[in-house]
Amino acid sequence: MRNLKDTKILNILRCPVCASPMRVSDNGASLLCGGARTHCFDFSAGGYVNLSSPTQSGGGDSKGAVRARTEFLCKDYYLPVARAVEEAVAEYADRDKPIIDAGCGEGYYSLFPARLGYSVYGADLSKFAVDAAAKRAAREGIDNAFFSTASVFSLPIADSSAGAVINIFAPCAEEEYSRVIKDGGVLIVAYAGEKHLLGLKAAIYENPHVNTDRADLPVNMKKICEKRVSYDIELTSNSDIMSLFAMTPYYWRTSQSDAEKLGVLDHLRTEVDIIVSIYRNSKNDKNEMTQGKEDHRSE
Ligand SMILES: C[S@@+](CC[C@H](N)C(=O)[O-])C[C@H]1O[C@@H](n2cnc3c(N)ncnc32)[C@H](O)[C@@H]1O
Repeated sequence: MRNLKDTKILNILRCPVCASPMRVSDNGASLLCGGARTHCFDFSAGGYVNLSSPTQSGGGDSKGAVRARTEFLCKDYYLPVARAVEEAVAEYADRDKPIIDAGCGEGYYSLFPARLGYSVYGADLSKFAVDAAAKRAAREGIDNAFFSTASVFSLPIADSSAGAVINIFAPCAEEEYSRVIKDGGVLIVAYAGEKHLLGLKAAIYENPHVNTDRADLPVNMKKICEKRVSYDIELTSNSDIMSLFAMTPYYWRTSQSDAEKLGVLDHLRTEVDIIVSIYRNSKNDKNEMTQGKEDHRSE
C-alpha cells in the first residue's frame, strides 16, 4: 500500500476534525492527528485519503466524468494549458514550499509541478478523482504528490503554509486560498476565456454563446500577471469528442436530442481559449484593504 512519504506535505496537513497536525501511523496504513482524540484517516489501496468533512463526502465529479477527463487529457490536447500553469509555478512559486492543486480532478495538472520537484498536495471533493490522481502518480513513481478528498472551501491545511495554490477549471475559494498561501505566495487560476470550446458548442446548439466572465475570481488579491492560451484542437474520433463533451458542464445541461448530434460526429475542430491569471497573496495588501484602500493594479 502507498502512503505519504513527502514530509513537506505531511507537515502542512491539518486534521479536518480538530485542526491538529498529522502524522503517518507506525504501520503506515493511516494518517493520525495529534489531537486529544487522535482522529484516524486510512490510506486507500491507491494511496489517497478521505479528508472531507462528513457533510461534504460524496460530492464532486462522478466516476464517468473523471474517466472521460482522464481519457481526454491523456491525449495531451490541453498540454499548452498545463505548460502555462507549470511555467507560472516555476516563475512565481517558492521551491521550498508545497503547491496545492485545489479541485485537482484526476491529477493531470498536479503532476507537472511535481515533475519539476515541487511537493504537491491535490484536493478534490470527488473520491473517484483523487483515486485516479493517486494512481496516476503511482504509475509514474512520483512520491512528491499526495491527494485527498476535501472541499476547496475548507482545506485540511495549515495557515500560510503553501507557496502557491493552482486552481484549474475548479471553484475559486479566494478566502480559503488566501488563508493557506504564505505571505507573498501566489494563486494561479486557469479558467475558460470567451471562445473556449465554441466549436463544440456550435456542434450542439443552434445559437452558441461565448463564455462570460467568472463570478468567483479573486477580488482582494492583487493580479500580477495574466496570460491567454488560445489555439485550435482537431478531434478525429467520436470517442475523443464524447470524452470532451462528458467532461464539460454542457454534458449535464444539454437535452438528449442536442447531445445526439455529437453521437454521429467523428471529426470536430474547436477552440481552446484559456486565461491563466496570477494573484499575489500579500498580507500587507489585506491590511490596507481592511483600512478601506482597495487597489487592484497589475504589477
Ligand atoms: C472541471 S473539473 C477540473 C479538474 C482539474 N482541475 C482539471 O482541470 O482537470 C472540476 C473539479 O472540481 C471538483 N470540485 C467541485 N467542487 C469542489 C469543491 N467544493 N471542493 C473541491 N473540489 C471540487 C470536481 O469534483 C472536479 O474534479
